[in-house]
Amino acid sequence: MSVVAANVESVAEGARILQNGGLVAFPTETVYGLGGDATDGKAVARIFAAKGRPSFNPLIVHVAERGWVAKLADTDARFEKLSAAFWPGPLTLVLRRSKNCPASELVSAGLDTIALRMPDHKVAQDLLRAVGRPLAAPSANASGTVSPTLAKHVDSSLGAKVDLVIDGGACRVGLESTVLDLSEEVATILRPGAITAEQIAAVIGPVKISHEDPAAPKSPGQLASHYAPALPLRLNTTQATVGEALLGFGPGAATLNLSQTGDLVEAAANLFAMLRTLDDASKFKAIAVAPIPSTGIGIAINDRLARAAAPRG
Ligand code: TXA
Ligand code: MG
Repeated sequence: MSVVAANVESVAEGARILQNGGLVAFPTETVYGLGGDATDGKAVARIFAAKGRPSFNPLIVHVAERGWVAKLADTDARFEKLSAAFWPGPLTLVLRRSKNCPASELVSAGLDTIALRMPDHKVAQDLLRAVGRPLAAPSANASGTVSPTLAKHVDSSLGAKVDLVIDGGACRVGLESTVLDLSEEVATILRPGAITAEQIAAVIGPVKISHEDPAAPKSPGQLASHYAPALPLRLNTTQATVGEALLGFGPGAATLNLSQTGDLVEAAANLFAMLRTLDDASKFKAIAVAPIPSTGIGIAINDRLARAAAPRG
C-alpha cells in the first residue's frame, strides 16, 4: 500500500482504484474511512475482510450529492430538516432502503435499512464526486482497535490490506459521526457523536437514545442480528434432502452457489441476496447450506449463518 498526499492526482488515482473494486482510505472530518464502492458487493466484502471483523455489521454509505439519497433510500420530512441543518457533517441517518436500492445488500448486513452520511471534508467530497458512486466506509482500522485520525494510523493498522491511503492531515472532529435511526416512527440515536441529542431535538423534537451498541447488539432481534430467513436453515451439508434448496460453496451442483471457485470474498458478497432468493416457502421447505471454511471473512459468514439457523423465539 502507499500513502500519498491529497491532491488532484491522488484523488483521481483513488477514484480509479475504487471504480475497479479496490479499497482506498480517505480522510473525513470525523475519522479516516476505509472506502469501497457501495454498489459493488465484492468491494464491500473486501472491506469486511480487510478489517478482520468476525461478524457483519452494517456500514455507513457516504455521498457527496443529494441526488444519490433518493436513489438509495426513502426519505421523510425529518430527513429533509436534519440534512438541511447538519449536512455535510458528522450526522449519519438510517433510512429504509429504496425499492431498487443500488447499494449491495452486504452494506446493510441484510437489513432493510441503509445508513447515509455526507462528509464535511473537501478530500472526501472530491473523491466521491470523482468516483461517481456512493462509498461504503467504516473507520479505517482493524477490528477491535481505535479509529484512525491520521493517515499513519491507517497504515500501521491495515498495511497492505488497503490499495491506497490518501493523506489529508489530521481529522478535525476525531470522533465518529452520530448515528440516528429514522427508519421507525421514533427517531433513535444508535451511536452518540459530535452532533448531540439536544441539537437534533432542536430540529425534529425529542429523540430516544439507545443504550444498545449497534455494533455489538446484546439482545437477539436487535439491528444487525435481525435478518434471518423465514425458512429453517441446515448448515454444513453438501446434500439437500427432498424439498430443500441447496446453497452451495465451491464446485458442484447447487440451487444457488455462493462461489463456484470457493472464493470467500465472492461468497460474502452473495450471502444476503442469495439467502433472500432461496427464502421462498412456495418453492422450498428449508435451506441446506454447504460448509464454509472458517478462515478470513469465512468467520463472519459462518457467524451470520449460525445466527440465521438458531432457534427463533
Ligand atoms: O464518522 C463516521 O461515521 C466514520 C467515517 C469514516 O465516516 N464511519 C464509521 O463507519 O464510523 P462504521 O461503519 O465504522 O460505523 C457504522 C455504524 C455502526 O455503529 C453501525 O452499526 C451503524 O453505523 N449502522 C450502519 N448502518 C446501519 C443500519 N442500517 N442500521 C443501524 N445501524 C447502522
Ligand atoms: Mg469503527
